[in-house]
Amino acid sequence: MIFRQFFEPVSCSYTYLIAARKGGEALLIDPVLDRVDRYIKLLDELDLKLVKVFDTHVHADHITGMGALRDRTKCITIMGEQSPVDVVSVRVGDGDTIDIEGLSLDAMYTPGHTIDSYCLRMADRVFTGDTLFIRGTGRTDFQGGSSRDAYDSLFNKLLTLPDETLVYPGHDYKGDTVSTIGEERAHNPRLQVGSADEYAAIMDNLNLPNPKMMDVAVPANVAIGRGQGVARHAAWALTADQVMDQCNAADVALVDLRDASEREAHGVIPGSVHAPYTGLDSLIRPGGMLREMVGTTGRRLIYYCAFGERSAMAVESSQECGLDNVCHLIGGIDAWRQAGGPIEQPGEGTA
Ligand SMILES: [Fe+2]
Repeated sequence: MIFRQFFEPVSCSYTYLIAARKGGEALLIDPVLDRVDRYIKLLDELDLKLVKVFDTHVHADHITGMGALRDRTKCITIMGEQSPVDVVSVRVGDGDTIDIEGLSLDAMYTPGHTIDSYCLRMADRVFTGDTLFIRGTGRTDFQGGSSRDAYDSLFNKLLTLPDETLVYPGHDYKGDTVSTIGEERAHNPRLQVGSADEYAAIMDNLNLPNPKMMDVAVPANVAIGRGQGVARHAAWALTADQVMDQCNAADVALVDLRDASEREAHGVIPGSVHAPYTGLDSLIRPGGMLREMVGTTGRRLIYYCAFGERSAMAVESSQECGLDNVCHLIGGIDAWRQAGGPIEQPGEGTA
């Protein structure tokens, strides 16, 4: 496995790069905007393809690099389903998995620092975001934070992991890089409490100043969607109603870009073809399945995904490689559902 821990000194943030092998797919956790060039350089050096980026929560002390990485690499952006961000490609819930080639991470919903805080667990380690630090814990006084939720997330979720589990936090202000669950249970001063009341009494009396960047970072981090306001008016952007009018025509093929787990969880538009976004490049190149289908049948492709981010990127990728007769569903299957469009479980239909 390839594993790197990046440090950003202004906000003392850690970012993590994970990949199963050189030349394979990569995931970044909590990237910082100012360091995006550095990540891309290392990805190039290690011949890695960035396929997914995950933010553990909406950060208040730095601007996320997710939007810039998506725009430069066409990777998938992921956050928890409780996040107030305008658009991300995928939203995960407690217990969902995030897969890249050769690796799988489990999402743990751990509210408390913020209402949308998640930790990611993978084999021998856990990425704790701002829920658990080395000898500290994340503050709970803004963005829907709650000291009682934090107590529950710490004691009933994170501290139930095996003692030897490595702890990789979202920040460290003293220079420590890694700890273990057992070490934190025994030596983290915030965790030496006997009840949620006792924990709340500590956390509710910290009287910390707001982060310096908060007024800039939070609004920027909530509005990371891929310019859908502009893309909405593009000729290749269709509303759910427009797609409903057109999708039964013989010359149209609906293409679902989501992963199998998303299809299972949220259903599919009847009659659509499945072509996961991460494998799209090979499908739209000459000789690829979608390219051939368009070539032989002359059908127009309408891409859709969860919220319209991957489908907008798929239109651009298709146009770049000469596949022009493609559109996408604005707002994804989420907008389709809200418009009353039919949805079925995958495998029920004919396609
Ligand atoms: Fe935070």
